[in-house]
Amino acid sequence: MMPVMLVTGSAKRIGAAIVRTAHAAGYRVLIHYHRSEQAATALANELNAIRPQSAALLQADLTVVNTSESLNQFTQQIIAQFGQLDVLVHNASRFYPTAMGAITSLQWQELFLTNAKAPLLLTQALAPHLAAQQGCVISLLDIHAHDKPFPNYIVYNMAKAAHRSMVQSLALELAPAIRVNGIAPGVNILPDPSSDQAIDPQVQQALIDAIPLQRIGTPADIADCVLYLAQAAYITGQIIAIDGGRSLTLAGNLTP
Ligand SMILES: NC(=O)c1ccc[n+]([C@@H]2O[C@H](COP(=O)([O-])OP(=O)(O)OC[C@H]3O[C@@H](n4cnc5c(N)ncnc54)[C@H](OP(=O)(O)O)[C@@H]3O)[C@@H](O)[C@H]2O)c1
Repeated sequence: MMPVMLVTGSAKRIGAAIVRTAHAAGYRVLIHYHRSEQAATALANELNAIRPQSAALLQADLTVVNTSESLNQFTQQIIAQFGQLDVLVHNASRFYPTAMGAITSLQWQELFLTNAKAPLLLTQALAPHLAAQQGCVISLLDIHAHDKPFPNYIVYNMAKAAHRSMVQSLALELAPAIRVNGIAPGVNILPDPSSDQAIDPQVQQALIDAIPLQRIGTPADIADCVLYLAQAAYITGQIIAIDGGRSLTLAGNLTP
């Protein structure tokens, strides 16, 4: 049987690129979404037209991890789709600024939920299934996840730093049964200009100017690395930056 990959938040953008690349390589895919039902359904239909019964949908707000009942139910729903899980990709995320002086507990909860808490609790719940397949976990982090914070995004930076630490901790905890790795994108796709995560045009230009390769990356660059890590049998606990060289120029601010 072909392996099964679950990608959280995969209706659109980087998540959808990961799903398409894995599917093209023969994976059966679980497309998880929260609000983007239309995009998720269109993606599943597109992939099932290529290979019948190769893509399934899972709708959930990741707040399901907040109680053991809803988490168990979600876990069962995941495994029921194809009867196994080989690769778990933590891609779902919230991303918005939290200016010092105006940070709220609600922002903390929301940013930590998707970027740190859900990845840990979901991995824990699915670990027995992943172990049964000698599977792996791949986390979408950020080049700002540790020593080079993105200005004005304090809570997001902190949450991704926690997630980065999870990758390294779980690589030890779950070895030798499950490999755990991370990918740190630089700027691989800008937030949708109509969303609440949109980045100001001046900041966008400053971001591009600060990239040695002088352009933003693509979701496919990330997806190719996910596929590589999914198949890299002797790699665990590693974090690969896919950033056009940007992390080399970062000094905790936006200038090169
Ligand atoms: N874009 C970049 O260049 C870049 C840079 C650095 C790091 N990254 C990381 O790479 C990953 C993908 O980036 P992206 O820009 O493609 O992500 P994104 O579009 O900002 O978010 C991906 C998905 O997360 C889902 N999501 C948000 N809150 C959720 C919740 N409470 N429950 C369930 N799902 C939720 C949304 O699903 P619905 O639409 O279905 O609601 C959304 O489509 C993220 O982890 C991001 O932090 C990206």
